[in-house]
Amino acid sequence: MTRTVYLNGDWVDETEARVSIFDRGFLFADAIYEVTAVVGGKLVDYAGHAARLKRSLAALDIPMPVSEEALLTLHREIVARNALSDGGVYLQISRGAEDRDFLYSDALRPTFVMFTQARAVLDNPKWKTGIFVVTMPEGRWVNRQIKTVQLLYSSLAKMEAKRQGADDVLFTEDGVITEAGSSNAHIVTKDGTLVTRALSNALLHGITRASILDLARAAQIRVEERGFTVDEAKNAAEVFLTSASAFVMPVVAIDGQPVGNGKPGPLTARIRDLYIEDRLANAI
Ligand code: PDD
Repeated sequence: MTRTVYLNGDWVDETEARVSIFDRGFLFADAIYEVTAVVGGKLVDYAGHAARLKRSLAALDIPMPVSEEALLTLHREIVARNALSDGGVYLQISRGAEDRDFLYSDALRPTFVMFTQARAVLDNPKWKTGIFVVTMPEGRWVNRQIKTVQLLYSSLAKMEAKRQGADDVLFTEDGVITEAGSSNAHIVTKDGTLVTRALSNALLHGITRASILDLARAAQIRVEERGFTVDEAKNAAEVFLTSASAFVMPVVAIDGQPVGNGKPGPLTARIRDLYIEDRLANAI
């Protein structure tokens, strides 16, 4: 038996429910969710879940798609429509769907999905036996080497950069620049050395980064792989970003302070030329 689910104002069969591939929940994890337990057809701790839902939406500046009263009615209705006795109601609200861009538009309408899951909430055999657990380093989210769609923070940071009149953001950690919003960051020191952060789990292993390092070394440009500080970047001769979407992008100001003479630098241009020449010739 299939469930009846809720999708943006409609009750539809679970096999018919479709969300766009451009939904920001899918592309950027730009969404929030709640799970409310149901026992004997009744919502457990509903007020707390509804309150947190409001807090989560407010934190992300996603509008509440329905009124508080309607939200409770929807919860009750989905339980009734699915004759759910015990289990839970899963609810997810994303910022909505539009063409992929870290920056989102004001026109977006949230995507609102609800479905039920049947489960014997009060009859859990593990309550008797207990469960086994293992410890792991806290990693939410330190595994930046994995190219996941967990891009919410990057998206929010880029929006804030835009509000501040900037084009992108440089992320810092313990005074060191980790990466830009969606690209790797590099500097050229006053003595012409290309400095870029060494690979670790703290940054995405950029394909463009690897290529420009190879090309720079082949062109006898000195390369150092080490962390560099915000001050070093602000006082560098040149700063640039690399990614598959922007190739080699000069940065001319950081926090309103010009880098070098405030114009794109010559080594940045040379590296971009090397990259374009070599990689386009080898494009397949
Ligand atoms: N972003 N660092 C981050 C956090 C990135 O998101 C990206 C790419 C890079 C550069 O990796 P590469 O050189 O392999 O593209 C570094 C892509 C372009 C994006 O999200 O649009």
